[in-house]
Formats: sequence, structure tokens, C-alpha cells
Amino acid sequence: MTSVRVERLYKIFGPQPTELVRRLEAGADQEEIKAASSTAAVVDASFDVQEGETFVVMGLSGSGKSTLIRMLNGLLTPTAGRVFVDDEDITKMSAGALRTMRQQKMSMVFQHFALFPHRTVLDNAGYGLQIKGAGKSEITEKAREALSLVGLEGWEERYPQQLSGGMRQRVGLARALAAHTDVLLMDEAFSALDPLIKREMQDQLLNLNAKLGKTIIFITHDLNEAMRLGDRIAMMRAGEIVQIGTAEQILNEPADDYVASFVQDVDRSRVLSAASIAEPPETLLSASASPDEALALMRQQHTDRLFVADGGQRLLGELSAAAAEQAHQDGRSDVRSVLAPVTDPVAGTTPMKALLSRMSTEAVPTPVVDEQQRLLGVITPVAVFQALCQEVPAAEGGDGADAAAIKEASASDV
Ligand SMILES: Nc1ncnc2c1ncn2[C@@H]1O[C@H](COP(=O)(O)OP(=O)(O)OP(=O)(O)O)[C@@H](O)[C@H]1O
Ligand SMILES: [Mg+2]
Repeated sequence: MTSVRVERLYKIFGPQPTELVRRLEAGADQEEIKAASSTAAVVDASFDVQEGETFVVMGLSGSGKSTLIRMLNGLLTPTAGRVFVDDEDITKMSAGALRTMRQQKMSMVFQHFALFPHRTVLDNAGYGLQIKGAGKSEITEKAREALSLVGLEGWEERYPQQLSGGMRQRVGLARALAAHTDVLLMDEAFSALDPLIKREMQDQLLNLNAKLGKTIIFITHDLNEAMRLGDRIAMMRAGEIVQIGTAEQILNEPADDYVASFVQDVDRSRVLSAASIAEPPETLLSASASPDEALALMRQQHTDRLFVADGGQRLLGELSAAAAEQAHQDGRSDVRSVLAPVTDPVAGTTPMKALLSRMSTEAVPTPVVDEQQRLLGVITPVAVFQALCQEVPAAEGGDGADAAAIKEASASDV
């Protein structure tokens, strides 16, 4: 089910915004907008975020990420286009209706989360509920629960200055969680944290969300973070969404040079999964095949080992040449009864990194299966090394300034 849907969204800062949208639609470029002393911060953005999905928006500084996310909860009014939250067009709502919508449906966590210094951690976490007019006991109960979700049990009566930066950010997250909204908007929520704490927060968000199943729209300029957290990633450049896809799609098929420069330094072995590098097995036999058919396929493929699957592609076992020969001599009609179990098939979601040591010793193709034990394909050491070494297409005629800025942005995150 769709949670948030955006249709042809624009935000122009500066004079004559509506006229400039018309010109952009007619093909005007950013230079023309600048010449009119305006900024096209978001240009023709369209996407859907599904319930329970983590949708990451990434792009360089100034590419329009914050402007986009602020239009999703009505903090900014779009110049053109529509935003639907649970199928309701929020661009048509009054200020009051928007406030209610935010309180009931969307919470936001920012990069520099402002905690009130003279309020306790508990009061800070309960602030959103207090604004909503909730009763004292409800505020206390929900704020405590949210603080324990983010690992801050026992810190309720402390004050912000007694907390580390990472802990303060957790209070911010707890405040958003305490509001019990289905959607969380997170604008660079972890960017100010140092790398270890940042990773911890990412893990915590992943764990939390496995339990809570919230819809999360998460902004970052850190690609590794985007790839760890995002079910899908939208890449923004100069106000436009240039690509939306899974981490693997972005890594394997970058839409343009801008996206390619972002992904060139990514650790491919962490992102690519066994399923993405599995190749269709040439040595797959149906369980209803006769021993003669099995032997013929082995000769044709120059192998003495076949994988055997049922009609629904489910992996039943493997067949050796000796077993097929025996079945032939015993006059069996099919190979079902002489199969050996497959040793340790690999789950399709396994990251390549976890396969490296196995590949270094395994001489034969390894089967890859989904949760239903259906055969997705086989992987070989050669395929693994090819995938690791695959070069992202060189930025031909690309924007050199972008590439340099991207490098700088990612360097500052390591
Ligand atoms: N209130 C505003 N008035 C005028 N221009 C603005 C305003 N807010 C943002 N902009 C401009 O819109 C563009 C997009 O800004 P935005 O803050 O959305 O980018 P961002 O991708 O979030 O960047 P960062 O990674 O630095 O947070 C920038 O050129 C910015 O200067
Ligand atoms: Mg921003």
C-alpha cells in the first residue's frame, strides 16, 4: 500500500515561481532560472513510497533533498505538483489540517536535533506528545517506552548536556518514535555523528524498524549509509531525481555519470548479493528426466554433476554420473530416487563478502536459492571476482566539478 506519493513536484525559490515552472516544463534549464534570480530547488519529482518501506533520498549539498522532504509534511508549500499522504492530497489542506496530519502521521528527525537544555531527557522525548495535548501519564508512558527502544533506559531524568552527541540524537529519534506516527522523515539524522556511533545508530534503526515496520524517508549524502538502510534509493541532482532503484540497481546500472561517480568507491562486496551474481545453471535437470537423458546432458555439458529441480524450480538434490549410471542399469524411469542432498545452498540475500572464503575453496558451482528453496542460479568463483572487479563506466564528458564534490563529500564521511 502506498503511504506517500509525489506527483510532478516543483519548488522554486525567488520571484515569479509559477511562470518559471512553466518555463522548466517547456525545457528551460537551471541557468535560465538562475538568470531570473531564482532557484529551482525541486524539479518535476515523482515517486511513491510504500508502507513499511525505507526510501532514501541522496544527492550532493544543494541538490534539493531538504526542500523535497519539507514538502512531504507540508512545512514547505510546493510551487506546483501534488503530495499525497495515505491518498489525501496535502497540498490542498489548510494550515490547521496540515498540523493535525503531521501530528497524527509524520514525525521528523533533523541533523542537529534541538533538545531543550532545561528539560529532562524524558520531557524532551515527550515534547511532541505534549504539543499534541496528550495527558501527563500518557506522555510519560510513551516517552519511556520510546527511550527504551533507543537504548536510553535509565537516562530519563538526566539533562541533555550530560549526554554524548550520539545519545542526544537518540533522544531526537525517541521523540519521533513516541509520537507513534506511521511515517518518519529523517533529514541527515545521523550525519553529524562520528563513524562508529553513526553505524550503531544505523543498526539500531534497522533493528527497530524490523519490529515497528514504519515507513521511513531518509535523507543522506553518504552512499554507504543509503545502501545499508534503503529498500530503494532516489538520487537527486540539481533538483531532479535522476534515478530511483535498489542499491544493486544503482550500483550495476547507474543512470548517468553523476550517479556513477557516487558509486565508484562503494564496497561492492557488501552491497551485491549472491542472487545478483547468480547465473542460470547449464546443468539443471528436471526430476522427471530419465537416467539416459541425465547422462546425455552430462556428456553435452562436460560435467559429472547436475542439479535437479522439481516443476516449481525447487532444488531437490544433485545427481552424480555414477548415480545416473546406476539408475540406468536398474532400469529406473526417472532420477528421483538416486539424488544426493545438495550441501549447503547459499541464500540469495547473502552478501558477496560472506561468500569470498567459501569461493576460495569451492571448485564446483554453488547453488543459490530463495526462501522457498527455489533455485535462482549458481555462482562460481569467476563470477564473484568479475562482479567485484566490475568498473563503473568512466564519466565520459561528465561534470568534473560534480565528481570532485562527490569525492569530497564521501571522504568527509569516512
Ligand atoms: N528558503 C530558501 N530560500 C531560497 N533558496 C533556498 C531556500 N531553501 C533552499 N534554497 C536553495 O535551494 C537549493 C536546495 O536546497 P536544499 O537545502 O533543499 O538542498 P540539500 O540537498 O538539502 O542540501 P544539503 O545537503 O546541504 O542539506 C539550494 O540551492 C538552496 O540554496
Ligand atoms: Mg539538506
